[in-house]
Amino acid sequence: MQLLRCVIGDYSVPDTFDALSCELGDAARPLHYLAIPQALFEVVIGQLGRTSCGTSTRLVLEKPFGTDLASAKRLNGILHGCFRESAIFRIDHYLAKEAVQNLVFFRFANTFLEPIWNRNYVESVQITMAEPIGVEGRGAFYDQTGTVRDVVQNHLLQVLSNVAMEPPPGGRSPETQRDEKVKVLQAISPLDPVRAVRGRFRGYLDEPGVASDSVTETFVALELAINSWRWEGVPFYVRAGKRLPRALTEVVVQLRRPPSIAGVPLVPNHVRFQLRPEFEIGLGATVREPRREEGHALELLASHDHEGAETDPYVELIGDALRGETFRFARQDYVEEAWRIVNPLLCPESAPIDYEPGSWGPREAETLVPGGWANPVRGE
Ligand code: BG6
Repeated sequence: MQLLRCVIGDYSVPDTFDALSCELGDAARPLHYLAIPQALFEVVIGQLGRTSCGTSTRLVLEKPFGTDLASAKRLNGILHGCFRESAIFRIDHYLAKEAVQNLVFFRFANTFLEPIWNRNYVESVQITMAEPIGVEGRGAFYDQTGTVRDVVQNHLLQVLSNVAMEPPPGGRSPETQRDEKVKVLQAISPLDPVRAVRGRFRGYLDEPGVASDSVTETFVALELAINSWRWEGVPFYVRAGKRLPRALTEVVVQLRRPPSIAGVPLVPNHVRFQLRPEFEIGLGATVREPRREEGHALELLASHDHEGAETDPYVELIGDALRGETFRFARQDYVEEAWRIVNPLLCPESAPIDYEPGSWGPREAETLVPGGWANPVRGE
């Protein structure tokens, strides 16, 4: 059976969509996959809505889902003018990453975590997404986008909501997980630009496609507050950037410092989820230094070997979309809440702070976190 059809044409010409509709014939539930520039969404969605085969048509959309809160609302209005939310699949490939899904699973599958997973025991949560690569020939795209839009509004807020969400009500549909994640974002105040550091690696302005007067960031570090019963008073720090020392995506949940033992200060414990390059779960603990009344910090690695376990997130997600399963996709209300949170950072008036390629970003990002960013045990 021939399942893929190809129609070559111009988006701006209605005939193209009529030809597509003809080609699809009586296909029961056509699935359209849209990886198109933002500016084309309105015309393409309108035309697909006009010609689509009844109410069973589904749409897979690639980001960006808007470029700020207002444009995201506009886009969602256009989408809902033609399609039901349950027929819209907004891709965020982080949602199908094995390690990101395991974050939620591990939290709720292990009884020892729940009692400490709150403001009484957690000092801060730190989320880092570091990439050694630069803009890799995507200068023109990146210059219109920047780190906040590229990875914070989507991937990293998804990771944050996995860390912070309440357990979805048992036995209910997986859709309840999306409800819980939206509730996390609803409890976050819009970003305070004073608690954010924007950076730009030296040499960015020489990249092809980058404007000479660009104010786009290639690095950001920021602090968020979740105003909920569980998390009030616990800072969530998020940092992401290009041209950083290594590829690393991880979450460190830093616990409160224990009291000293007989005057000997101790380091705080932590739970560390490394999502990339390897899957690791580290439990930071302190043991007695042999023959000395001192603590020795170590990390117990609790991960199991996932080698070969991860399928390409896109294979997973396209499969979900074909089956009509929406829960690993970004829902309209989630997308809008995420834009609301980052909105104050989206129209900067001044250039970001320069940093050296291969460094951890501007020095100012270090002081955002009292005591510095945790890079436990590995001493980086
Ligand atoms: C994409 C961003 O969404 O995610 C890229 O546009 C980024 O800039 C990429 O490099 C990172 O994805 P991953 O799966 O390599 O962590």
